[in-house]
Amino acid sequence: MPKKSGRDGGARRAKSRSGELRTVGHNVARAEGVEKVTGAARYIDDLVFDDMLYGATLRSTVPAGRIVAVEKDPQFDWTGFVFVDHRDITAPGRNAVAMITEDQPFLAVDRVRHQAEPIWLVAHADRARLAAGLARITVRYEKEKAQLDFETATEVLKEIAIKRGDLDAAFARADVVVEGTYRTGAQEQLYIETNGVIAQPGAGDHADGITVHGSMQCPYYVVRALRVLLGLPEAKVRVVQTTTGGGFGGKEEYPSVLAGHAALLARKAGKPVKMVYERHEDLIATTKRHPSIITHRTAMKKDGTILGIDIDLRLDGGAYVTLSPVVLSRAAIHATGPYRADAVRIRGRVMMTHTPPNGAFRGFGAPQSQFAAEVHMDRIAAELGIEPIALRRKNLFNTGDVTATGQKLHDSVAAHEVLDRALARHAIATKAAAKARGKTAAKGAVKGAVKGATKNGAAANGAPLRGTGLALFFHGSGFTGGGEVKLASKAGIALTKDGVQLLVGSTEIGQGTRTMHAQIVAESLGIPYDMIDTADPDTARVPDSGPTVASRTCMVVGRILQRAAEKLRAQLGDYDDGKSFKKRARKLLEARGTVEVIEEYERPGDIVWNDTTYEGDAYGAYAWGANIADIEIDPISYQARCTHFTAVIDIGKAIHPILAEGQIEGGTLQGIGWALYEDVVMRDGKMHNASLTNYIIPTTLDTPPITVEIVEHPYKNGPFGAKGVGECPIDGPAAAIVNAIRAATGKRLDAVPATPERIMKALV
Ligand code: MOS
Repeated sequence: MPKKSGRDGGARRAKSRSGELRTVGHNVARAEGVEKVTGAARYIDDLVFDDMLYGATLRSTVPAGRIVAVEKDPQFDWTGFVFVDHRDITAPGRNAVAMITEDQPFLAVDRVRHQAEPIWLVAHADRARLAAGLARITVRYEKEKAQLDFETATEVLKEIAIKRGDLDAAFARADVVVEGTYRTGAQEQLYIETNGVIAQPGAGDHADGITVHGSMQCPYYVVRALRVLLGLPEAKVRVVQTTTGGGFGGKEEYPSVLAGHAALLARKAGKPVKMVYERHEDLIATTKRHPSIITHRTAMKKDGTILGIDIDLRLDGGAYVTLSPVVLSRAAIHATGPYRADAVRIRGRVMMTHTPPNGAFRGFGAPQSQFAAEVHMDRIAAELGIEPIALRRKNLFNTGDVTATGQKLHDSVAAHEVLDRALARHAIATKAAAKARGKTAAKGAVKGAVKGATKNGAAANGAPLRGTGLALFFHGSGFTGGGEVKLASKAGIALTKDGVQLLVGSTEIGQGTRTMHAQIVAESLGIPYDMIDTADPDTARVPDSGPTVASRTCMVVGRILQRAAEKLRAQLGDYDDGKSFKKRARKLLEARGTVEVIEEYERPGDIVWNDTTYEGDAYGAYAWGANIADIEIDPISYQARCTHFTAVIDIGKAIHPILAEGQIEGGTLQGIGWALYEDVVMRDGKMHNASLTNYIIPTTLDTPPITVEIVEHPYKNGPFGAKGVGECPIDGPAAAIVNAIRAATGKRLDAVPATPERIMKALV
């Protein structure tokens, strides 16, 4: 059941096909919308606590070295300053950011491993004095040799291997072996609101506890980090997420570091301490998307059948492990793209370098590995002389096919459908656009262009070179493998006299969590949407619903809430509308005082995963995507520009079609930015262009018309059939654009970002 929407000429949106559904599938008012548009919402830097200090970080200015001395200028007036260094972290606390491993210190002890590594923390009541003081502290180092290039690095932070079938036999049988190497650059998440927190001594009745308010995706990750740092039991740590201006993965792990820093200062000062990064500091110090280098060797039959896939994938981890092992895991599992092969070998490694650690970013490794897979598909098509579309159709996953980890795809496989619909929609959009320009669209323009290297390029007369590119991709929803079982997420519902309140640790970061969860619960309870309220994510009040990451907030947490609603409904007995619900609710509340239903994640019975052999059902369900990009290249400046983009994504069910479409448009544009503009320039291990004047992202003027179509192949274990939507849309655009550049120029690029310099190099 496709749901159509679009922004191209004569934008259209099919009537809701939600049938009997009264709330789900409808574009209800956004839950937190009014407070945001009226300015009532308070972001972290809007909050001022009594007697509050400001905190700042003294960072390393060398990529590797031994700290010889830290010296304060004796001429400076240090009155009112508070200082913290590693010696302020005392047992039972540990100087380790609790993540997958505990290799990263909160504060350097005697060595630094990257530029921007925190060494000291400083606080003062006056922001200007604080900045002046920070500039009067010098660190003397004994420099050490730094490894800054992950391609030549030798220290491996994490390695994984996926193996299936007889690869040697596949290559022995091959008519042709196609090989290619692909590279992707780092990318900044660029949330509008930078990282920021306020730490306050005390938590509830515990004077020796700690409370942190802040901009974040995962309040319970921060709780854990603070417990390890301060050696506190859970009851003495309270974390409250404040209104958050975007995350995109960039507020998945870093807030744990920042919260720890602010907490150390607050405990030493005995006062609240606010730390909010300026953009420059946020850019140089926080995590980015892992740069990658990926080599494919593919055993092919002449007719275009893939026999075997051999992939070597390396990511630049930076100086510490952070979340790299799971980013690598997702990258590897998605590395074949949505194609079947009886023999697959994927070797993945994260390399250690002396650069700030890379980390979570929307897509979590899958955009890198599927960029390589899809650009490689076009290379195979060219080498075999087969149409790119036909090559893909021949190998695309169908129901019943088996993935690289040996997962049999039972249901909700829309790989072919998204391709078909993307071709159809793009043709319509291209025609409409041509008509709007007063020209006639060449018959079969899309199909012809996607066929591969075209002749529509040649531009001796200074006219732009034009081309069209295609990319197909998929994205597993939720934590990988046994991850969801280990998380054992909880979420629930409390009865109130006016309706219900959701108790959920998932965060609203701009993507629509509150709205979508409220819709699921309203629908499941059979009451109006406006009877649903959501508790603020305060760990003193809401249970741990797991992190707000991995395209899991709808499919996994939404499903837990749906089950809680079903249980609550059973407890309430018969009611037929909101009014009678309220009557019953009040009666029950009178009798019992409080009524809360908290449910825990339940593993669907048909999911089996082996963490040792890396085999089995990597994800409960996959979202499926198809992208088609039209680009043009200025033959003088070599600047490529996307002129039209089509994104067709299967997400199972759009709980809120406009929000889902927003996720698809946003993810697509972020992918276009990564493909064409966003270039993290590193010099001596430090981001050199750490400002928005020279780290270029697409503005609205660079944004092409984006045609979005949502396909709904329901997943039986998702709420109302829903899968994940947050990440899938960013997996395809870079490949679609690089394939379009090849179609326009006949030249291979094999890397993003496709900056004018890179395009020029490829052309001349
Ligand atoms: Mo994410 S990149 O799973 O926040």
